[in-house]
Amino acid sequence: MSQSTRRTFIKSAACAVAAPTIVPRSVFGANAPSNRINVGFIGLGNQSKVDLPAFLENDDVQVLAVCDVNTGSIGYRVPEDFLGREPGKQSVEAYYADKSHSGSYKGCAAYTDFREVLGRDDIDAVVIITPDHWHATMTIAAARAGKDIYCEKPLSLTVEDGKAMVKAVREHKRILQTGSQHRSNDNMRRGCELVRNGRIGDLERITAYIAENNFTGPGTSWMPMPVPKGFDYAMWLGPAPKAPYHEDRCLYKFRFIEEYSGGQTTNFGAHSLDLAQLGHGSELTGPLEFTDAGSEWPESGSLFTTATRVAFHARYADGVELICETRPPGFGARFEGSEGWVQVDSSGVHASPKSLLTSVIGPDEFHLPVAVPGKPVTRYDRVSPQHVRNFLDAVKSRQDPIEPVEVGHRTATICHLGNIAMKLKRKIKWDPESEQIIGDDEAAGMLKRPKREPWEI
Ligand SMILES: NC(=O)c1ccc[n+]([C@@H]2O[C@H](COP(=O)([O-])OP(=O)(O)OC[C@H]3O[C@@H](n4cnc5c(N)ncnc54)[C@H](O)[C@@H]3O)[C@@H](O)[C@H]2O)c1
Repeated sequence: MSQSTRRTFIKSAACAVAAPTIVPRSVFGANAPSNRINVGFIGLGNQSKVDLPAFLENDDVQVLAVCDVNTGSIGYRVPEDFLGREPGKQSVEAYYADKSHSGSYKGCAAYTDFREVLGRDDIDAVVIITPDHWHATMTIAAARAGKDIYCEKPLSLTVEDGKAMVKAVREHKRILQTGSQHRSNDNMRRGCELVRNGRIGDLERITAYIAENNFTGPGTSWMPMPVPKGFDYAMWLGPAPKAPYHEDRCLYKFRFIEEYSGGQTTNFGAHSLDLAQLGHGSELTGPLEFTDAGSEWPESGSLFTTATRVAFHARYADGVELICETRPPGFGARFEGSEGWVQVDSSGVHASPKSLLTSVIGPDEFHLPVAVPGKPVTRYDRVSPQHVRNFLDAVKSRQDPIEPVEVGHRTATICHLGNIAMKLKRKIKWDPESEQIIGDDEAAGMLKRPKREPWEI
């Protein structure tokens, strides 16, 4: 959402304060209440600027609740963005007010504790956009509460978290979409289909691109800071170890601290390695070995602790080499084969020979699913709405969405194993069947992290 749109939202929300708490039927068009998906948002920070409008634009969605431990503040990825629980609620109410005849709407509840969202019988699905260290606890609790789940990428903080998420989602028969939205981009699908249908000959090597760190942090000289008013820091930390507050620990920048995230390895790997798996056709398995290839890490004692340069190599059972590196263009995957190459990135599909770009995939060849059949999308800003629509259709059909829990878990697993190999600076052997590290107890111990009470899974 642009700054000006958000300002319009907040302005019109302010006029709506005195309105009664009713849902005008006109807001939801032809969609009868029984056909409507009631949604709660958990985490109203940076990525909610993309995900919230992507849900709101659907006439068969009603956002009933938002939840954030931050009442509202600046200090997110775009420093002047004012985000959190209250701005989130205002955005939702302003959106519905804009669509209503009366021009007013009040009916979005705001919570600090996500368990209150999960406790509401009238909420069908939750959107989890919190830092990665919360994904497993919240997803599992949501599955137990009978909610369908759109969980942002990377799906997990650790491999064991991911396994537990798969188990809970399947046990409770929930729909889960992993928020790796580029899977729903038709350019990515097209590029991966070319590879899957042998247009570049035998696949030999895949390169997954990772972006450089976009913040450097305070280095080793950081000092604890007072917790800002309106920010529930204990609930932000949740399952993570106790740690003194610092502004660079929390909003957006958590992704550079190992307790909460896997750095750019998981942040961009959840997109680029996801495409690597899609083009390779190994979405429910993974490589057998992982080796550091010159990764770099911050100085000991720094607040930021994740890799400053990502570089690892892996190898699949069929001999295909996987290279994952901090390297331009920073997002996407390149597939090299015996007869050419294909690259998918934010600028589209590229190939050599160029004739591949117009090569038609015949009806009897292999086809990957289209996120929204009959409505392919390649515009970058329409990819998330497409991915969300795919989720909503899955909620209704009870068929898996384009990136179900197992696939998101396997992509995250590659990121985590890459991090372990880079951290230990030695080769890690992985059995994708049993999902165990072979012959290395120290590395195996890194597949799991303790969670603080009462957030164990
Ligand atoms: N799909 C994408 O392209 C994409 C892009 C950016 C971020 N993401 C993912 O979205 C997630 C959030 O990232 P972000 O950049 O929005 O971070 P952020 O810090 O900007 O926002 C996270 C929000 O969650 C809130 N929060 C933390 N703990 C909470 C809790 N216990 N209950 C309720 N709210 C809580 C924070 O206060 C914050 O407002 C991450 O997993 C990230 O990887 C995905």
